[in-house]
Amino acid sequence: MDSTKITAATVRADFNDLTAVIHYTRAAHKLGLWASERMLIERFFPDHSAPLLEAGCGAGRVAIGLWQLGYQRLTAFDFAQELVDQAVSLAAERQAGSIRFFTADATRLGKCHLLDDTLFSGVLFMFNGLMQIPGRCNRRAALHGLRRVCVPGAPLLFTTHDRDSSPGERALWQLEAARWARGEQDPRLGEFGDRYFEEAGTGRTFMHLPTRTEILADLAATGWTHEYDAMRRELASESRAVRDFSDDCRFWVARKP
Ligand SMILES: C[S@@+](CC[C@H](N)C(=O)[O-])C[C@H]1O[C@@H](n2cnc3c(N)ncnc32)[C@H](O)[C@@H]1O
Repeated sequence: MDSTKITAATVRADFNDLTAVIHYTRAAHKLGLWASERMLIERFFPDHSAPLLEAGCGAGRVAIGLWQLGYQRLTAFDFAQELVDQAVSLAAERQAGSIRFFTADATRLGKCHLLDDTLFSGVLFMFNGLMQIPGRCNRRAALHGLRRVCVPGAPLLFTTHDRDSSPGERALWQLEAARWARGEQDPRLGEFGDRYFEEAGTGRTFMHLPTRTEILADLAATGWTHEYDAMRRELASESRAVRDFSDDCRFWVARKP
């Protein structure tokens, strides 16, 4: 097996790949917001005129869903140019052309001059995008960068998997821990909790699966105050189409003090 470590370049290439582009574009066109996403957006982002930033917007599923809910001042970015192109095209088709889309890397927002003179009243990083950043220090850089472009009091909504969320998950991760202890883990992975897999119709996916404790520590280390978290299954019963598109996940809300 190729033992080259997975980097941001690997992840970006995987999201720019045709299979992934078709998968996320189809979701943006047909699926829209999940019931759980809509519920938390309406609860934690009550002001429709507040400027909001979406990180990892992909083909625009969430940004266009927000616009359809009546949010008027939307900015969204992704580091995969092919997906951003799809988002721009769908926004034009849905007459949501006032959404500002651009290409940027969430771990390097300090270098993004497009964000120089804007402060946001809230940030979203949906469907586990933050966890698709390899390296905990890089995920922390993204959390830190997003906090810097927000006003005090701004909420951050994001999702992750949770490797402690069920007895089945815990058993699988115990086996994986034993593999790491023997040095027999997938050599392309950098940290315990990482996974890299391929699915027909979705393409290759890198994902870090954290524990709840890990995310609480990352929020504290990057200046966010934890406010809320819950598993999706506790929030809403999603349609079959949403469940086919996405596994259960943990929703997080943190706030800039
Ligand atoms: C699972 S997809 C979700 C896309 C979209 N938000 C949705 O829910 O359909 C995660 C997205 O995060 C983006 N992403 C991952 N790492 C990123 C980074 N460092 N900077 C910007 N975007 C990133 C990927 O390109 C991908 O579009």
